Amino acid sequence: MTTSIRIVGGNPLKGSIRIRGAKNAALPLMTAALLTDETLTLTNVPCLTDIQTMAELLAQHGVYINHTPGSYTYELKAQTITNTTAPYDLVSKMRASILVLGPLLARCGQAKVSLPGGCAIGTRPVDIHLNGLKQLGAHIELSEGYIHASAPNGLVGANVTMPLVSVTATENLMMAATLAKGETRLINAAREPEVVDLANCLIAMGARITGAGTDSIIIEGVSHLHKATHDVLPDRIETGTYAMAAIITDGDLELTHTSLSLIPSITSVLQQAGADIQATTNGVRVKASLSPIIGVDVMTEPYPGFATDLQAQIMAIMTICQGASMITETIFENRFMHVPELCRMGANITVHNSSALVRGVPYLSGAQVMATDLRASVCLVLAGLAARGETTISRIYHLDRGYEKLEEKLCNCGASIERIAA
Ligand code: EPZ
Repeated sequence: MTTSIRIVGGNPLKGSIRIRGAKNAALPLMTAALLTDETLTLTNVPCLTDIQTMAELLAQHGVYINHTPGSYTYELKAQTITNTTAPYDLVSKMRASILVLGPLLARCGQAKVSLPGGCAIGTRPVDIHLNGLKQLGAHIELSEGYIHASAPNGLVGANVTMPLVSVTATENLMMAATLAKGETRLINAAREPEVVDLANCLIAMGARITGAGTDSIIIEGVSHLHKATHDVLPDRIETGTYAMAAIITDGDLELTHTSLSLIPSITSVLQQAGADIQATTNGVRVKASLSPIIGVDVMTEPYPGFATDLQAQIMAIMTICQGASMITETIFENRFMHVPELCRMGANITVHNSSALVRGVPYLSGAQVMATDLRASVCLVLAGLAARGETTISRIYHLDRGYEKLEEKLCNCGASIERIAA
């Protein structure tokens, strides 16, 4: 049975929303369990379908997973890895599955991982992952849609310069390097907070890592890693998304268990647009001090630049801005699929290659729209919250991959939103 979300727009959001652990930190953190035969305990793990998929993938590798449904704590123990193959049916459901490659190679000296294939937002190759592992001494062959990787004598530290800033390639190589012989330098490394969170967890497990959060990470290989407990950092994309929900509905929201320090570029763009964003003792308070907001140009960049995962959301709020906003997507080649859906709601957006010119309109009108990928789906929710009349969003399984209890959280703040069987 497919489900949709129905929203009647126009209600300002007021109240408090608790931000949970970051999906894009929890996923690599779960694969780090493969690096040791002892227990890795993760707390503040969000309840999302992507997390369940990762748990399923690790379990078929032989990882023992102790998790009570509905709890935010996972205990993972890879005492023995019984299977080093990551199959197509799981990898094709979630690209982040590629993150088992480095740990399996480092722990077992071999791995057979399905090539993730493309996805809605781009071709998303994994060449940087594979070339980096080759430089660490792995032998890599591609055949029948699978990556066949082996390092029978173990991995050896090396200087690896990544041609593009890649978040999961940085994470894969950093994890592989923790058990390599000697020193590895990752140059042009991703600086995302999720990379730093993973490094902190690996260090707690006994890894020797310096420079995480900068573009040059140094890992001194060790013989083994041990048990640790790690609290997943707050989700900066969830934080930015709900901040924009407050703004587009002319509301006033407190976001708890998060921090303004996680969203520096988002904050500066929203403040330029006329939003009032303040740090509070336990998080962030956001309200639209200017209504409508002022159009501001945005360009997505690797952290600490404006996050590509918030590009669709900022576009939603700019559709009803004063003036116009030029939004340029520099990370992925096809991340404007939300544009035609927003235009069905009355937005005025013109796309030229990797830039979208958003001319503000007085209001959006509710319509039937379709979610295409995770962040595009939540952009349509934001648009629906502000639109006049009723919006129905189909294919919302995309939403459940990255947003926990979204309707419940919005309902509690005054939104008229419900899930319906479509
Ligand atoms: C991570 O994906 C995130 N996923 C993405 O979030 C996020 O959009 C992206 O980083 C950018 O911030 C997770 O962390 C699980 P990249 P990742 O490698 O690592 C190219 C979401 O909505 N590239 O940093 O796959 C790539 O095509 C998801 O939560 C290569 O060319 O992204 C892209 O153009 C969507 N070769 C650029 O680099 C490679 O080997 C950056 O991609 C790897 C990447």
